[in-house]
Amino acid sequence: MVVTDLEVVTITPTSAVIAWTTRQSRFGVGVPQPVTAGTELALGPVEGSLRVVHDDPIPRAFHMVEVTGLEPGRRYRFRASSNGQQAHAALRPTRRIGSCEQVNEFTTLTPPPGDYLTTIALTNDIHIGEKRQGIVLGSLPTSVRPHPDQVDYPQIMLASSLGDLTTRRGHPLVVVNGDITYANQPHEVALARQLLDGYGKQNDGWVVTRGNHDHPRRDDDPFGDVFVGYQRNQTILDPSGLRILAVDSTRGSGGGWIVPDQYDQIMSELASDPHRPTLAVTHHPVTNEAAWTSISGPQFMLRAPDRLRLQLIESQAPGVFLHVAGHTHRMRRDRADLPWAHTQYLENAACAAYPGGFSLLHLYTGGYLLNFWRPSDPDALDWLYRSRWQVMGLGAHLMLGRTEDRNHVVEFDLSGLMPARREAPAELQA
Ligand SMILES: [Fe+2]
Ligand SMILES: [Fe+2]
Repeated sequence: MVVTDLEVVTITPTSAVIAWTTRQSRFGVGVPQPVTAGTELALGPVEGSLRVVHDDPIPRAFHMVEVTGLEPGRRYRFRASSNGQQAHAALRPTRRIGSCEQVNEFTTLTPPPGDYLTTIALTNDIHIGEKRQGIVLGSLPTSVRPHPDQVDYPQIMLASSLGDLTTRRGHPLVVVNGDITYANQPHEVALARQLLDGYGKQNDGWVVTRGNHDHPRRDDDPFGDVFVGYQRNQTILDPSGLRILAVDSTRGSGGGWIVPDQYDQIMSELASDPHRPTLAVTHHPVTNEAAWTSISGPQFMLRAPDRLRLQLIESQAPGVFLHVAGHTHRMRRDRADLPWAHTQYLENAACAAYPGGFSLLHLYTGGYLLNFWRPSDPDALDWLYRSRWQVMGLGAHLMLGRTEDRNHVVEFDLSGLMPARREAPAELQA
Protein backbone atom coordinates (compact mmCIF):
# COMPACT_ATOMS: atom_id res chain seq x y z
CA MET A 1 0.00 0.00 0.00
CA VAL A 2 1.22 3.51 -0.88
CA VAL A 3 0.00 6.33 1.39
CA THR A 4 0.44 9.38 -0.76
CA ASP A 5 -0.84 12.60 -2.38
CA LEU A 6 -0.83 14.36 0.98
CA GLU A 7 -2.51 17.77 0.73
CA VAL A 8 -3.27 20.54 3.19
CA VAL A 9 -6.34 21.48 1.16
CA THR A 10 -7.98 24.14 3.29
CA ILE A 11 -6.65 26.41 6.05
CA THR A 12 -9.05 28.80 7.75
CA PRO A 13 -8.51 30.87 10.93
CA THR A 14 -9.71 28.00 13.15
CA SER A 15 -9.67 24.85 11.04
CA ALA A 16 -7.77 22.88 8.43
CA VAL A 17 -8.59 20.11 5.98
CA ILE A 18 -5.94 17.49 5.26
CA ALA A 19 -6.35 14.85 2.54
CA TRP A 20 -4.42 11.87 1.16
CA THR A 21 -5.01 8.60 -0.66
CA THR A 22 -4.15 4.94 -0.20
CA ARG A 23 -3.52 2.83 -3.27
CA GLN A 24 -1.34 0.33 -5.00
CA SER A 25 1.73 1.44 -6.90
CA ARG A 26 0.90 2.67 -10.35
CA PHE A 27 1.83 0.66 -13.40
CA GLY A 28 1.21 2.15 -16.83
CA VAL A 29 -0.93 5.21 -17.34
CA GLY A 30 -4.32 4.12 -15.96
CA VAL A 31 -5.96 4.78 -12.62
CA PRO A 32 -4.07 2.83 -9.93
CA GLN A 33 -6.01 0.35 -7.84
CA PRO A 34 -7.35 1.96 -4.64
CA VAL A 35 -6.51 0.25 -1.34
CA THR A 36 -8.90 0.96 1.50
CA ALA A 37 -7.53 1.66 4.96
CA GLY A 38 -8.31 3.66 8.09
CA THR A 39 -7.84 7.41 8.55
CA GLU A 40 -5.71 8.75 11.38
CA LEU A 41 -4.59 12.29 12.10
CA ALA A 42 -2.48 13.55 14.99
CA LEU A 43 -2.02 17.27 15.46
CA GLY A 44 -0.64 19.77 17.92
CA PRO A 45 0.89 23.25 18.25
CA VAL A 46 4.31 23.26 16.64
CA GLU A 47 6.04 23.73 19.99
CA GLY A 48 3.97 21.05 21.75
CA SER A 49 3.21 17.35 21.37
CA LEU A 50 0.98 15.63 18.83
CA ARG A 51 -2.40 14.36 19.91
CA VAL A 52 -4.65 12.03 17.94
CA VAL A 53 -7.55 14.19 16.78
CA HIS A 54 -9.10 11.78 14.29
CA ASP A 55 -9.08 8.00 14.18
CA ASP A 56 -11.63 6.45 11.84
CA PRO A 57 -11.38 2.72 11.08
CA ILE A 58 -13.88 2.87 8.17
CA PRO A 59 -11.88 1.60 5.18
CA ARG A 60 -11.55 4.14 2.38
CA ALA A 61 -9.05 5.11 -0.31
CA PHE A 62 -9.58 8.89 -0.36
CA HIS A 63 -9.02 10.29 3.12
CA MET A 64 -10.07 13.76 4.17
CA VAL A 65 -10.10 15.13 7.71
CA GLU A 66 -11.39 18.51 8.86
CA VAL A 67 -9.85 19.61 12.16
CA THR A 68 -11.66 22.40 13.98
CA GLY A 69 -11.10 24.37 17.17
CA LEU A 70 -7.68 25.79 16.20
CA GLU A 71 -6.42 29.27 17.00
CA PRO A 72 -5.98 31.94 14.32
CA GLY A 73 -2.44 32.79 13.23
CA ARG A 74 -0.91 29.82 15.03
CA ARG A 75 1.50 27.23 13.65
CA TYR A 76 0.56 23.56 13.98
CA ARG A 77 2.24 20.32 13.04
CA PHE A 78 0.51 17.11 12.09
CA ARG A 79 0.96 13.49 11.14
CA ALA A 80 -1.49 11.98 8.67
CA SER A 81 -1.49 8.20 8.39
CA SER A 82 -3.42 5.12 7.36
CA ASN A 83 -2.94 1.85 9.23
CA GLY A 84 0.09 3.41 10.88
CA GLN A 85 1.80 4.33 7.60
CA GLN A 86 2.50 8.07 7.25
CA ALA A 87 1.12 9.95 4.22
CA HIS A 88 3.67 11.64 1.98
CA ALA A 89 3.51 14.49 -0.51
CA ALA A 90 3.60 13.52 -4.19
CA LEU A 91 1.95 16.30 -6.18
CA ARG A 92 4.23 18.99 -7.57
CA PRO A 93 2.99 22.01 -5.58
CA THR A 94 3.19 19.96 -2.39
CA ARG A 95 6.80 18.93 -3.02
CA ARG A 96 8.28 22.41 -3.00
CA ILE A 97 10.82 23.06 -0.27
CA GLY A 98 9.06 24.32 2.83
CA SER A 99 5.54 23.44 1.66
CA CYS A 100 3.04 22.46 4.36
CA GLU A 101 3.09 18.88 3.08
CA GLN A 102 6.90 18.67 3.18
CA VAL A 103 7.30 19.96 6.71
CA ASN A 104 3.97 18.57 7.98
CA GLU A 105 3.14 21.98 9.42
CA PHE A 106 0.77 24.81 8.61
CA THR A 107 -0.21 28.19 10.02
CA THR A 108 -3.88 29.05 10.44
CA LEU A 109 -4.96 32.26 8.72
CA THR A 110 -5.46 35.56 10.52
CA PRO A 111 -8.69 37.23 9.34
CA PRO A 112 -8.40 40.64 7.69
CA PRO A 113 -8.96 43.66 9.92
CA GLY A 114 -12.42 45.02 10.64
CA ASP A 115 -15.88 43.51 10.83
CA TYR A 116 -17.22 40.48 8.98
CA LEU A 117 -19.61 41.53 6.21
CA THR A 118 -20.69 38.63 4.03
CA THR A 119 -19.61 35.50 2.16
CA ILE A 120 -19.82 34.70 -1.54
CA ALA A 121 -19.23 31.17 -2.91
CA LEU A 122 -17.37 30.70 -6.19
CA THR A 123 -17.57 27.64 -8.40
CA ASN A 124 -17.10 26.84 -12.10
CA ASP A 125 -16.42 24.10 -14.64
CA ILE A 126 -19.12 21.57 -13.90
CA HIS A 127 -19.57 20.26 -17.46
CA ILE A 128 -22.94 18.57 -16.90
CA GLY A 129 -23.29 15.94 -19.63
CA GLU A 130 -19.57 15.19 -19.84
CA LYS A 131 -18.75 11.49 -20.12
CA ARG A 132 -14.97 11.40 -19.75
CA GLN A 133 -12.97 13.85 -17.76
CA GLY A 134 -9.79 15.61 -18.73
CA ILE A 135 -8.21 16.61 -22.00
CA VAL A 136 -9.11 14.24 -24.82
CA LEU A 137 -6.23 13.71 -27.25
CA GLY A 138 -7.54 11.26 -29.84
CA SER A 139 -6.91 7.69 -28.79
CA LEU A 140 -4.34 8.58 -26.12
CA PRO A 141 -5.49 7.57 -22.63
CA THR A 142 -5.47 11.16 -21.39
CA SER A 143 -8.97 11.39 -19.97
CA VAL A 144 -10.50 9.41 -17.14
CA ARG A 145 -13.61 7.29 -17.61
CA PRO A 146 -15.89 7.25 -14.57
CA HIS A 147 -16.93 4.00 -12.88
CA PRO A 148 -20.43 2.85 -13.93
CA ASP A 149 -21.83 4.32 -10.70
CA GLN A 150 -20.06 7.62 -11.34
CA VAL A 151 -21.34 8.40 -14.86
CA ASP A 152 -23.17 11.38 -13.39
CA TYR A 153 -20.03 12.77 -11.77
CA PRO A 154 -20.74 16.40 -12.79
CA GLN A 155 -24.08 16.23 -10.97
CA ILE A 156 -22.50 14.40 -8.03
CA MET A 157 -19.94 17.18 -7.66
CA LEU A 158 -22.36 20.09 -8.11
CA ALA A 159 -25.07 18.58 -5.90
CA SER A 160 -22.63 17.71 -3.11
CA SER A 161 -21.04 21.17 -3.30
CA LEU A 162 -24.45 22.86 -3.10
CA GLY A 163 -25.39 20.47 -0.30
CA ASP A 164 -22.36 21.45 1.77
CA LEU A 165 -22.93 25.13 1.03
CA THR A 166 -26.49 24.76 2.32
CA THR A 167 -25.92 22.67 5.41
CA ARG A 168 -22.34 23.43 6.47
CA ARG A 169 -21.26 26.74 4.89
CA GLY A 170 -24.06 29.18 5.64
CA HIS A 171 -25.92 29.05 2.29
CA PRO A 172 -24.14 31.99 0.63
CA LEU A 173 -24.81 33.47 -2.81
CA VAL A 174 -23.00 31.25 -5.35
CA VAL A 175 -21.34 32.54 -8.50
CA VAL A 176 -21.33 29.66 -11.01
CA ASN A 177 -18.72 30.90 -13.41
CA GLY A 178 -19.12 29.07 -16.70
CA ASP A 179 -18.78 25.64 -18.31
CA ILE A 180 -21.93 24.65 -16.52
CA THR A 181 -22.78 22.20 -19.30
CA TYR A 182 -20.66 20.05 -21.55
CA ALA A 183 -22.30 21.02 -24.84
CA ASN A 184 -25.20 23.40 -24.14
CA GLN A 185 -27.75 20.63 -24.73
CA PRO A 186 -31.34 21.18 -23.50
CA HIS A 187 -31.22 18.29 -21.02
CA GLU A 188 -27.87 19.49 -19.60
CA VAL A 189 -29.13 23.03 -19.13
CA ALA A 190 -32.39 21.75 -17.60
CA LEU A 191 -30.52 19.60 -15.10
CA ALA A 192 -28.20 22.45 -14.09
CA ARG A 193 -31.19 24.74 -13.65
CA GLN A 194 -33.00 22.16 -11.54
CA LEU A 195 -30.01 21.75 -9.21
CA LEU A 196 -29.54 25.51 -8.87
CA ASP A 197 -33.27 26.15 -8.36
CA GLY A 198 -33.05 23.71 -5.47
CA TYR A 199 -30.45 26.03 -3.96
CA GLY A 200 -32.13 29.38 -4.47
CA LYS A 201 -33.45 31.94 -6.94
CA GLN A 202 -31.45 33.26 -9.88
CA ASN A 203 -29.52 36.45 -9.04
CA ASP A 204 -30.43 36.04 -5.38
CA GLY A 205 -29.20 32.58 -4.40
CA TRP A 206 -26.98 32.13 -7.44
CA VAL A 207 -25.57 33.88 -10.49
CA VAL A 208 -24.34 32.12 -13.61
CA THR A 209 -21.97 33.14 -16.36
CA ARG A 210 -21.47 31.36 -19.64
CA GLY A 211 -18.35 29.34 -20.38
CA ASN A 212 -16.97 28.18 -23.70
CA HIS A 213 -18.68 24.78 -23.27
CA ASP A 214 -22.01 26.64 -23.02
CA HIS A 215 -21.51 28.47 -26.33
CA PRO A 216 -24.58 28.92 -28.54
CA ARG A 217 -25.02 27.11 -31.85
CA ARG A 218 -26.06 28.79 -35.08
CA ASP A 219 -29.76 28.41 -34.44
CA ASP A 220 -30.25 27.37 -30.88
CA ASP A 221 -29.03 28.36 -27.45
CA PRO A 222 -30.63 26.38 -24.61
CA PHE A 223 -28.28 28.09 -22.13
CA GLY A 224 -29.52 31.49 -23.25
CA ASP A 225 -33.15 30.34 -23.06
CA VAL A 226 -32.79 29.11 -19.49
CA PHE A 227 -30.04 31.24 -17.90
CA VAL A 228 -28.79 34.37 -19.63
CA GLY A 229 -28.44 35.49 -23.26
CA TYR A 230 -25.23 35.33 -25.27
CA GLN A 231 -22.74 38.14 -24.53
CA ARG A 232 -25.02 39.72 -21.95
CA ASN A 233 -23.38 41.25 -18.91
CA GLN A 234 -25.06 41.06 -15.52
CA THR A 235 -24.81 43.32 -12.49
CA ILE A 236 -25.99 41.93 -9.16
CA LEU A 237 -26.04 43.80 -5.86
CA ASP A 238 -25.58 41.65 -2.78
CA PRO A 239 -27.37 42.76 0.44
CA SER A 240 -23.97 43.97 1.72
CA GLY A 241 -23.82 46.43 -1.17
CA LEU A 242 -21.22 44.34 -2.99
CA ARG A 243 -21.52 44.66 -6.75
CA ILE A 244 -20.95 41.52 -8.78
CA LEU A 245 -20.13 42.29 -12.40
CA ALA A 246 -20.53 39.07 -14.38
CA VAL A 247 -19.29 39.31 -17.95
CA ASP A 248 -19.79 36.74 -20.71
CA SER A 249 -16.30 36.25 -22.14
CA THR A 250 -17.12 33.43 -24.53
CA ARG A 251 -16.66 33.32 -28.25
CA GLY A 252 -16.75 29.73 -29.48
CA SER A 253 -15.68 26.38 -28.19
CA GLY A 254 -12.34 27.49 -26.74
CA GLY A 255 -11.00 31.02 -26.53
CA GLY A 256 -12.97 34.14 -25.69
CA TRP A 257 -13.60 37.76 -26.53
CA ILE A 258 -15.52 40.79 -25.30
CA VAL A 259 -17.60 42.61 -27.92
CA PRO A 260 -17.76 46.45 -28.20
CA ASP A 261 -21.30 46.64 -26.85
CA GLN A 262 -20.19 44.77 -23.71
CA TYR A 263 -17.34 47.23 -23.16
CA ASP A 264 -19.82 50.11 -23.30
CA GLN A 265 -21.93 48.41 -20.65
CA ILE A 266 -18.97 47.53 -18.42
CA MET A 267 -17.54 51.05 -18.56
CA SER A 268 -20.82 52.80 -17.91
CA GLU A 269 -21.66 50.46 -15.02
CA LEU A 270 -18.30 50.99 -13.34
CA ALA A 271 -18.26 54.72 -14.07
CA SER A 272 -21.68 55.08 -12.44
CA ASP A 273 -20.19 54.07 -9.08
CA PRO A 274 -16.42 53.52 -9.44
CA HIS A 275 -15.66 53.19 -5.72
CA ARG A 276 -18.31 50.57 -4.94
CA PRO A 277 -16.58 47.33 -3.86
CA THR A 278 -16.94 45.09 -6.88
CA LEU A 279 -16.24 41.47 -7.67
CA ALA A 280 -15.69 41.00 -11.42
CA VAL A 281 -16.13 37.53 -12.92
CA THR A 282 -15.50 36.10 -16.36
CA HIS A 283 -15.15 32.46 -17.31
CA HIS A 284 -11.84 33.14 -19.05
CA PRO A 285 -8.89 34.47 -17.05
CA VAL A 286 -7.74 37.94 -18.04
CA THR A 287 -4.03 38.06 -17.23
CA ASN A 288 -1.11 37.24 -19.49
CA GLU A 289 0.33 35.11 -16.73
CA ALA A 290 -2.78 32.92 -16.82
CA ALA A 291 -2.70 32.76 -20.60
CA TRP A 292 0.95 31.87 -20.95
CA THR A 293 1.20 29.36 -18.11
CA SER A 294 -1.86 27.27 -18.98
CA ILE A 295 -1.14 23.94 -20.70
CA SER A 296 -3.91 24.66 -23.20
CA GLY A 297 -1.99 27.70 -24.51
CA PRO A 298 -2.98 31.31 -25.16
CA GLN A 299 -5.27 30.51 -28.11
CA PHE A 300 -7.60 28.82 -25.58
CA MET A 301 -7.83 32.13 -23.67
CA LEU A 302 -9.50 35.49 -23.94
CA ARG A 303 -7.91 37.43 -26.84
CA ALA A 304 -4.81 39.35 -25.78
CA PRO A 305 -6.24 42.85 -26.50
CA ASP A 306 -9.33 42.00 -24.44
CA ARG A 307 -7.23 40.78 -21.53
CA LEU A 308 -5.39 44.06 -21.39
CA ARG A 309 -8.41 46.24 -21.99
CA LEU A 310 -10.40 44.62 -19.18
CA GLN A 311 -7.50 45.07 -16.78
CA LEU A 312 -7.19 48.73 -17.83
CA ILE A 313 -10.89 49.36 -17.21
CA GLU A 314 -10.63 47.67 -13.82
CA SER A 315 -7.58 49.74 -12.91
CA GLN A 316 -9.69 52.85 -13.42
CA ALA A 317 -12.43 51.69 -11.03
CA PRO A 318 -10.98 51.79 -7.49
CA GLY A 319 -13.71 49.49 -6.13
CA VAL A 320 -12.88 46.44 -8.29
CA PHE A 321 -10.88 44.51 -5.73
CA LEU A 322 -10.99 41.02 -7.24
CA HIS A 323 -11.45 39.40 -10.63
CA VAL A 324 -12.24 35.68 -10.54
CA ALA A 325 -12.08 33.33 -13.51
CA GLY A 326 -12.46 29.60 -14.15
CA HIS A 327 -11.72 27.76 -17.41
CA THR A 328 -8.20 26.52 -16.61
CA HIS A 329 -9.58 24.16 -13.93
CA ARG A 330 -6.72 25.12 -11.64
CA MET A 331 -6.24 27.19 -8.50
CA ARG A 332 -3.83 30.02 -9.08
CA ARG A 333 -3.31 33.62 -8.02
CA ASP A 334 -2.10 35.62 -11.01
CA ARG A 335 0.00 38.74 -11.27
CA ALA A 336 -1.76 41.71 -12.86
CA ASP A 337 -0.15 42.98 -16.06
CA LEU A 338 -0.45 46.65 -15.10
CA PRO A 339 2.09 47.60 -12.43
CA TRP A 340 -0.36 50.06 -10.87
CA ALA A 341 -3.27 47.59 -10.69
CA HIS A 342 -5.13 47.36 -7.39
CA THR A 343 -7.28 44.38 -8.49
CA GLN A 344 -6.36 40.83 -7.48
CA TYR A 345 -6.65 38.09 -10.12
CA LEU A 346 -7.61 34.53 -9.28
CA GLU A 347 -8.22 31.36 -11.29
CA ASN A 348 -10.64 29.19 -9.34
CA ALA A 349 -10.33 25.40 -9.60
CA ALA A 350 -13.00 23.24 -11.26
CA CYS A 351 -15.99 21.95 -9.35
CA ALA A 352 -16.31 18.59 -11.10
CA ALA A 353 -12.64 17.82 -11.75
CA TYR A 354 -9.69 17.40 -9.43
CA PRO A 355 -9.05 19.20 -7.10
CA GLY A 356 -12.88 19.51 -7.19
CA GLY A 357 -14.99 21.86 -5.10
CA PHE A 358 -15.73 25.53 -4.50
CA SER A 359 -14.22 28.59 -2.87
CA LEU A 360 -15.64 30.81 -0.17
CA LEU A 361 -14.84 34.50 -0.34
CA HIS A 362 -15.36 36.07 3.09
CA LEU A 363 -15.54 39.86 3.06
CA TYR A 364 -14.50 42.10 5.96
CA THR A 365 -14.41 45.89 6.15
CA GLY A 366 -10.61 45.61 5.88
CA GLY A 367 -10.23 42.97 3.15
CA TYR A 368 -11.12 39.40 2.29
CA LEU A 369 -10.24 35.84 3.19
CA LEU A 370 -10.52 33.09 0.60
CA ASN A 371 -10.71 29.33 1.14
CA PHE A 372 -11.06 26.45 -1.26
CA TRP A 373 -13.22 23.57 -0.02
CA ARG A 374 -13.93 20.09 -1.28
CA PRO A 375 -17.41 18.67 -0.76
CA SER A 376 -17.53 16.16 2.08
CA ASP A 377 -19.79 13.58 0.36
CA PRO A 378 -17.91 10.24 0.13
CA ASP A 379 -19.24 9.71 -3.44
CA ALA A 380 -17.65 13.02 -4.46
CA LEU A 381 -14.35 11.97 -2.90
CA ASP A 382 -14.48 8.57 -4.61
CA TRP A 383 -14.85 10.38 -7.91
CA LEU A 384 -11.93 12.70 -7.10
CA TYR A 385 -9.80 9.60 -6.48
CA ARG A 386 -10.27 8.80 -10.18
CA SER A 387 -10.31 12.36 -11.48
CA ARG A 388 -6.85 12.90 -9.99
CA TRP A 389 -5.50 10.68 -12.80
CA GLN A 390 -6.70 12.82 -15.72
CA VAL A 391 -4.16 13.71 -18.41
CA MET A 392 -2.18 10.53 -17.70
CA GLY A 393 -1.80 11.53 -14.08
CA LEU A 394 -0.25 14.93 -14.84
CA GLY A 395 -3.40 17.02 -14.47
CA ALA A 396 -3.48 17.04 -10.69
CA HIS A 397 0.08 18.40 -10.46
CA LEU A 398 -1.02 21.38 -12.55
CA MET A 399 -4.48 21.99 -11.09
CA LEU A 400 -4.06 21.75 -7.32
CA GLY A 401 -2.14 25.02 -6.84
CA ARG A 402 -0.16 25.97 -3.77
CA THR A 403 -1.73 26.11 -0.33
CA GLU A 404 -1.57 29.90 -0.54
CA ASP A 405 -3.38 29.90 -3.90
CA ARG A 406 -6.27 28.10 -2.22
CA ASN A 407 -6.16 29.91 1.13
CA HIS A 408 -5.17 33.52 1.57
CA VAL A 409 -6.00 36.91 3.02
CA VAL A 410 -5.86 40.23 1.15
CA GLU A 411 -6.23 43.58 2.86
CA PHE A 412 -8.38 46.07 0.96
CA ASP A 413 -10.70 48.85 2.00
CA LEU A 414 -14.21 47.37 1.77
CA SER A 415 -15.64 49.72 4.40
CA GLY A 416 -18.11 51.00 1.79
CA LEU A 417 -20.09 47.78 2.36
CA MET A 418 -22.36 47.00 5.27
CA PRO A 419 -22.88 43.74 7.15
CA ALA A 420 -25.37 41.61 5.20
CA ARG A 421 -26.89 40.39 8.47
CA ARG A 422 -25.40 36.95 8.00
CA GLU A 423 -23.84 35.11 10.88
CA ALA A 424 -20.10 34.76 10.40
CA PRO A 425 -19.24 31.15 9.49
CA ALA A 426 -18.02 29.06 12.43
CA GLU A 427 -14.49 28.74 11.02
CA LEU A 428 -14.05 32.52 11.21
CA GLN A 429 -14.97 32.73 14.88
CA ALA A 430 -12.07 32.27 17.26
FE1 LIG B 1 -14.08 23.83 -18.20
FE1 LIG C 1 -13.81 26.69 -20.12
